[in-house]
Amino acid sequence: MPTKAKNPHLPLGDHKTAPWYGKDILSIKQFSRADLEYIIRVAHEMRIMVERIGTFDLLKGKILANLFYEPSTRTSSSFMAAMERLGGAVIPINEVKYSSVAKGESLPDTVRTLGCYADVIVLRHPDVGAAALAAKYAGKPVINAGDGVGEHPTQALLDAFTIREELGRLDNLTVTMLGDLKYGRTVHSLARLLTQFIGIKLNYISPDILPMPKDVMDEVAQKGLPQNEYSTLDKVLPETDVLYVTRVQKERFDDHAVYEKVKSAFVITPEVMKSAKKEMIVMHPLPRVTEISMEFDEDPRAAYFRQMEYGLYVRMALLAMVLGKA
Ligand code: NCD
Repeated sequence: MPTKAKNPHLPLGDHKTAPWYGKDILSIKQFSRADLEYIIRVAHEMRIMVERIGTFDLLKGKILANLFYEPSTRTSSSFMAAMERLGGAVIPINEVKYSSVAKGESLPDTVRTLGCYADVIVLRHPDVGAAALAAKYAGKPVINAGDGVGEHPTQALLDAFTIREELGRLDNLTVTMLGDLKYGRTVHSLARLLTQFIGIKLNYISPDILPMPKDVMDEVAQKGLPQNEYSTLDKVLPETDVLYVTRVQKERFDDHAVYEKVKSAFVITPEVMKSAKKEMIVMHPLPRVTEISMEFDEDPRAAYFRQMEYGLYVRMALLAMVLGKA
């Protein structure tokens, strides 16, 4: 198996103390609480820098390959914007149908290729484990931007940053996850991330056929977090600090009729939110379809558009980390 070529172009000494230099980001399980706090600190600095000066040259001369085998708006464009705001450049491959993938090229060969041209590869792929496979062959750090129904670690990191920026803490929270918990990879990563904090209580609400997977629940249980499944929101909404809503993942259904049956099982409206606290937030990784009504968007508790902005700062932090500059 090829080993990762350590980037020879970084100024000597520059990366020696950077613990994430050259590392892959494949799963949220890689991060300790101290790591999470560090990322949040760096992301906060990135926020201040963007607000003050917009673009700066921390990663000047570095190249990101942005390889997306599944649709994306936010993840793809925020990684591109992150790299460009840090002064780097991007090879965007959003339409794999126009790349050699359409000629039948394997994932290992595609990432081997991109590893020759880029310093870091961001990958979204429909198969669980694709990012880990790519990391074996790329020769450069690979960042998992979603591997099928597996994980979406950078989303969980930006979700954590959102909670910290909005509520000022990541401990002592009741987090209610609502929607497609089976196929929604963001909640798999976020539930795992929250096990690093104390006083967290998790509530899961989903259509019967879309529960939180057993392996995720087992991991959460092992860390001793209380977690409960409900079929309706009304009982837990009044105690909820973070309501994390997800889209029913249409693309994961073989039977369209089944999707149609469950797609609008839960809809957040101003009326529904009357029983929620004043000091709480509603999050959503987006895109939203029908699960949050647009009438709720003006409510100060609606944090989902701020959440996507926070994604830029977190992805800037991650790129700077794996390229040895943070
Ligand atoms: C999510 C994803 O791709 O898993 N989107 C995102 O990255 N912001 C959620 C979704 O597609 O529903």
